[in-house]
Amino acid sequence: MYSTLLASLDNGIFTITINRPDKLNALNKDVFTDLDTVMDEVYRNNDIKTVIITGAGNKAFVAGADITEFGGLSKEDAIALATRGQKVFFKIENCRKPVVAAVNGFALGGGCELAMACHFRLCSENAKFGQPEVNLGLIPGYGGTQRLTQLIGKSKSMELQMTAQIIDAKEALQAGLVNYVTTQETLLVKTKDILHTIMSKAPIAIGKIIECVNVAVLSDSSFTNGTSGYAREIQCFGDCFATEDMKEGTTAFLEKRKAHFTGK
Ligand code: COA
Repeated sequence: MYSTLLASLDNGIFTITINRPDKLNALNKDVFTDLDTVMDEVYRNNDIKTVIITGAGNKAFVAGADITEFGGLSKEDAIALATRGQKVFFKIENCRKPVVAAVNGFALGGGCELAMACHFRLCSENAKFGQPEVNLGLIPGYGGTQRLTQLIGKSKSMELQMTAQIIDAKEALQAGLVNYVTTQETLLVKTKDILHTIMSKAPIAIGKIIECVNVAVLSDSSFTNGTSGYAREIQCFGDCFATEDMKEGTTAFLEKRKAHFTGK
């Protein structure tokens, strides 16, 4: 049914697995289409009570947006790409059923942004987190500048984004990016334990908690009228696509070499 996802429902817990392990589950257009559709299923299907998002294989949750799709994009294309990505991630964040990320490896760029759009996160000991877009002459475009700042605070968010530093599971726990670190084998077991506890509570009240906690960090109206940090992020992401540094950064990644930036 989905070309890039696996989806399975077991006793109210719906597990969505991003399934492009040979590309470290990078988010291409098809993944976004599938994520959009699968979230409609989550909203619609009354048998789905809670959701886990994870990645296929034992190396990556999601290693970012698919960089091969960035080549040749105009500023307008990039704005459309970021707008689409943010909409799908808002659908996750605004879902009234709990959506938890089980981060089983690299969660970089769009992968970290996907994890942060979930209501909370657990990870295995081998997980690695970061927003390394600046290595590509870019910035996060799927809400990362906003959600990383909400989750770990302004100073650490600034440092991680500006240095492209990748942090390990222990540092992610310390920073408040994840709630628990487990072994690889017990990641889904622990995640399901928590979801079983949540499912023993009143579902309408759970949905109201999600609604109210989200209001603490986001005003929906400021998003739709284009004044929010999310809207600014989309514009700035687009601006980066009009630079030579972005072309150099993405080409260097695909050619497996270090980028040489000139500030143009
Ligand atoms: N987009 C597209 N392809 C990606 C990708 C991405 N974000 N991340 C990994 N891949 C692909 C690689 O190109 C490689 O494909 P190939 O086998 O056809 O050459 C495959 O996935 C395996 O990745 P590889 O780089 O060989 O694995 P590694 O263990 O040496 O390195 C990472 C792992 C995560 C450190 C490295 O893949 C990486 O830096 N990825 C990009 C991270 C990033 O910048 N994300 C933000 C994007 S906005």
